Amino acid sequence: MVIQSTGTSRRIAPFKESVWLGVDAMFDRHPDMIFFGNGAPANDLMPLDRLKWASAQAWEDGLNQLSYGETEGYAPLRELIVRQMAAIGAPATADEIVVVNGSQEGMDIVGRTLLHEGDIVLVEGPTFPDAIRLYQSHDAEVVGMEMDKDGIVVERLAALLDRLPRTPKFIYTIPTFQNPSGTTLPLDRRHALVNLARERGILLVEDDPYSAFRYEGEPLPPLRALEPNSVYLGTFSKTLAPGLRVGWISAPSPLFGHFFAVKEVMSISNSRLTTRVAYHAAAGGFLEEHVAEAREAYRIRRDTLLAAMEEYLPPQATWVRPEGGFFVWVDLPEEIDTDVLLTKAAANGVIFLPSSWFFPDRSKRNSFRLSFSAIPVEQMAEGIRRIGEVLT
Ligand SMILES: Cc1ncc(COP(=O)(O)O)c(C=O)c1O
Repeated sequence: MVIQSTGTSRRIAPFKESVWLGVDAMFDRHPDMIFFGNGAPANDLMPLDRLKWASAQAWEDGLNQLSYGETEGYAPLRELIVRQMAAIGAPATADEIVVVNGSQEGMDIVGRTLLHEGDIVLVEGPTFPDAIRLYQSHDAEVVGMEMDKDGIVVERLAALLDRLPRTPKFIYTIPTFQNPSGTTLPLDRRHALVNLARERGILLVEDDPYSAFRYEGEPLPPLRALEPNSVYLGTFSKTLAPGLRVGWISAPSPLFGHFFAVKEVMSISNSRLTTRVAYHAAAGGFLEEHVAEAREAYRIRRDTLLAAMEEYLPPQATWVRPEGGFFVWVDLPEEIDTDVLLTKAAANGVIFLPSSWFFPDRSKRNSFRLSFSAIPVEQMAEGIRRIGEVLT
């Protein structure tokens, strides 16, 4: 039989834009490559022993964990999530929580539920690349909002909204320790954003993977605390381990019902096993203790990185000191194209992620992202020295 229908769907066209393959190929260019691209927790900061213990606890549930069901998530885990959200000032009830396979699935569910062809989604410019491609795959037009060292420039947003041909379906934002810019939206801007979104009738979708890792300054309320009618995406990927694939969406009704239905069709149910592992690992105060320990280790990494940047990067490189999270964003003069610079850097034994990856139209080319979470402290200075060498 000749298979004739091999044409792929237009929905996967944005997936072809993946730049990771190009980066993977660069690893061969140097015998000891230093990789500033990994936004995951460090291997030594994932609580392996506790996760092994939690797995044993999960198996105590016997056959009960080997079935379908629990589409909305393991009940004790949902209760734990409610307590965790309350602790950061974001009120939610267990019947507003849908557990998902990582917040990436949460974003997919939000996109599938809400987007029609041609809808506009506003994102920060720069933003998390997999969010851009995901919303594009749901036929949305993804438009970047202007940012400065404090995140979205909310006073410019009204003008952008006036210029757009349609009211955006939602604003997707990472207000705290943003990926990739490291910026945090201050309280006055949070209020201004919530007010503007309310005035214009635009849903806010807040993605919050990093807020547990604050190294200095006072905690800020999540948008969800200021606007109960917003969607909040959370995850255990950074606080426990990304391989568990356990995250959640918190959404008020009627969105909760839609998200639940879409989740059911997409994946039938959550993994009863890994959601129990996440629950047992996090419960009993362990998560708070573990995060406190990891936070200190990440703070040392951030400080080591910033000190190396002061020492080895030339004066034309500028950056904002992140108060938390995993990332530092570096701006260079307009004439430097960091896609080109990356090729030279890789030959010199270091990889960063160029700014074009993080913009819907890939237009900004003179910046790059450094992720410090997974780099051993001893390699930090050498990695930055190598970048400094290709910049001078
Ligand atoms: C902003 C942002 N959202 C979502 C994700 C994906 O998280 P998860 O592992 O929970 O799917 C990441 C991972 O790096 C991220 O940085």
